[in-house]
Amino acid sequence: MKSIASAPGKIILFGEHFVVHGTKAILAAINKRVTVTTTFTEDDTVKINSELGTLNVPISSLYKYKEVKSEFRPFVYLARKWKTSLGLGFDGGCIPSGLEITIDSDIPIGVGLGSSSACCVAAATSISGLFNELSSEEILKTSIEAEKTIFSDTSGADCAVCTYGGMIEHPSIEKIDNTFDLNLLIANSMIPHNTKNSVEKVNKFKENDEDRFSQLCDLETKLIDKVIVAMKNNDATTFGLKMSENQKYLEEIQVSNDTLRDMISSLNEISLGSKITGAGDGGCIIALVNDDNMDKVPALLGKDKECFSAKIDTKGVVWKIEK
Ligand code: PMV
Repeated sequence: MKSIASAPGKIILFGEHFVVHGTKAILAAINKRVTVTTTFTEDDTVKINSELGTLNVPISSLYKYKEVKSEFRPFVYLARKWKTSLGLGFDGGCIPSGLEITIDSDIPIGVGLGSSSACCVAAATSISGLFNELSSEEILKTSIEAEKTIFSDTSGADCAVCTYGGMIEHPSIEKIDNTFDLNLLIANSMIPHNTKNSVEKVNKFKENDEDRFSQLCDLETKLIDKVIVAMKNNDATTFGLKMSENQKYLEEIQVSNDTLRDMISSLNEISLGSKITGAGDGGCIIALVNDDNMDKVPALLGKDKECFSAKIDTKGVVWKIEK
């Protein structure tokens, strides 16, 4: 029996970093996915296969999941959670006793497109699916637990959009209907980033200037309220302007750099607005670009950057059992 779950990657349209400190954010799931397939095996180990390599963990060592390399840790955590919660224990004692977990992904890793959260959501669904079917709320709760094994301060916004799909407001998880056809360009700076380090940097900014940080949080909240009105009014121009305004706040909290600024300014002439998406310090930018101008993008950005147009995924996580 195979339990197969697939979850979409994501972009943060508005509110990254500030969302960690309690403000709202708007996120969208995108049409790039990770698929996690889990099967029972009979050899008392949990075997994890991914493009990053293979890891074998004896069932008796699953409790040491914190010692496992971060890219495998959520899977080991989730395997342990389901085996222990169902009384299937560390002592073997049940046949079949092991698990094989295989990850296939078309989401680029470490560039802010939700690869890690999509893995956590798909893995929570796939592994638990061997034992019982989870509700969306349970998938979200479990995937956030798994993501916290890598990054304890996560806002949970990424896992929420990977679970539910579409465009959502966080933390309410209300779906937002995009009334105009958002034509979003994603461009990868090809500089890997580290979410934990960027979030720590922002924490330092906050410690040094609590007043300004609190003003920025208020500005971000007001900006997001205006974006929601703009979407209801089919107003792409305001949406774009708010992206660029949000970028100014991200510049101020110092999660941008010269490469990202250059990419943003090179797209100015053809975009209604652009900004970092995700933690910054590398990773990707997003830009609202008219369809007619899409073919000008590669020349403006240069050959060393990857870019593609994002479609919004509406399905969120999907799951099936194959006999
Ligand atoms: O770059 P990513 O996908 O890891 O996005 C992180 C988004 C933050 O707001 C910086 C952190 C969070 O947990 O929301």
